[in-house]
Amino acid sequence: MKISVIGCGYLGAVHAAAMAELGHEVVGIDVDSARIESLAAAIPPFFEPGLPEILASATASGRLRFSTDISEVADATVHFVAVGTPQQHGSHAADLRFVDAAFVALAPYLKPGDVVAGKSTVPVGTASRLSARLASTAPGAILTWNPEFLREGFAVTDTISPDRLVYGVPGGDEGARAAGVLDEVYASAIEGGTPVVVTDYATAELVKVSANAFLATKISFINAMAEIAEVTGADVTALADAIGYDARIGRRFLNAGVGFGGGCLPKDIRAFTARAEELGRGESLAFLKEVDQINLRRRQRVIDLVVELLDGQVNGKRIAVLGLAFKPHSDDVRDSPALDVAVQLRGLGAKVVATDPQAVANARRRHPQLRYTDDVLTALDDADAVVLVTEWPEYKALDPVQVAGLVRGTVIVDGRNCLDAEQWRAAGWTYRGLGRR
Ligand code: UGA
Repeated sequence: MKISVIGCGYLGAVHAAAMAELGHEVVGIDVDSARIESLAAAIPPFFEPGLPEILASATASGRLRFSTDISEVADATVHFVAVGTPQQHGSHAADLRFVDAAFVALAPYLKPGDVVAGKSTVPVGTASRLSARLASTAPGAILTWNPEFLREGFAVTDTISPDRLVYGVPGGDEGARAAGVLDEVYASAIEGGTPVVVTDYATAELVKVSANAFLATKISFINAMAEIAEVTGADVTALADAIGYDARIGRRFLNAGVGFGGGCLPKDIRAFTARAEELGRGESLAFLKEVDQINLRRRQRVIDLVVELLDGQVNGKRIAVLGLAFKPHSDDVRDSPALDVAVQLRGLGAKVVATDPQAVANARRRHPQLRYTDDVLTALDDADAVVLVTEWPEYKALDPVQVAGLVRGTVIVDGRNCLDAEQWRAAGWTYRGLGRR
């Protein structure tokens, strides 16, 4: 099929490359010329495992091209809109200006029968508003809302083999046609057994934000249990293991620690709450404010533990911060708890040396005042305390005996509860996790 993808950020770049990998002919459009040049040269502008390989093979095959010129979508019959919906400045609501601009730019090139598939995460009600507008700006084009559930770090696999497909479609023949077109786009996943939920616009929009709200709630739930464990001497990891054996609960997303961050969960729960308030149903999602608060408290807890372990004397102390990305296998530092902890410790007067296998460049752009190194051993050298805030495999594999030989103070705060506490203690370390004895 001939496909266009408007917006080549995390979501759009991966989607464009994955669709071409599946055999479709794809053009990716973005207003950022540096990004487009990089993608056209098959160099991903961000770290995502598996993306360099499919970008290279799809561009070499001639099925994938990138452009800043929106008129190049004219040949395509399916148009994915994958632009960002960041949090508005000074408000919790989503900023829809990029979505609106994409629809304005796209409309003149749409032909009757073309399908426009919205992928961006939007407040419920957006698709019906955009559909009404398309009826006059691009008569005969059909809008569907097709939310994306990919995880950074697994984006390629999640796009090629998603665990479900959701199509929000209009009623009648138009809806059936749009669903049929998306079935063709995703034929290989559907043949592989991926379930398809065909529904209305509002439900499709809500599926996306409620899934992220549920995941955020699950993480904050276990972090709330960590807070209780901390005052009772219980161990939140053992607790998570035990409740996780109940198949109704499940063990995934029950890792207590410094909490969630990234470009999705934090802004999505805030935008969802703001939208519920607009709809006069603020009380229905009031709990998400608690979810947000619990999450933000965990960052402070990590800092408090460092202060406590340094006997209240952080000023002038050298602290190695291991991790800057919001999670491993990503270079994304948007709303990253790890970067936040590093910045706040520096604010307390500590000499922070921060490291990350992938995210140093992005962190430096946002916070040039911090001292960075790409080398974990350099970060650890002479440290008075160590804080682990992103659970990269290489940090989990550190040898506590070897590290003890590098640092000045054998004090570690494990902000991801990912180290073997007994092993570190046996090597002479003062180890503190979150919600752990
Ligand atoms: C999230 C969702 O998981 C995806 O399904 C969704 O498509 C995506 O947002 C989106 O809306 O685009 P992602 O932001 O890549 O994906 O990250 P997650 O894997 O969900 O992790 C989010 C945060 O939660 C990370 O900071 C991670 O460290 C933290 N986390 C995760 C925990 O603190 N504990 C856990 O047990 C699991």
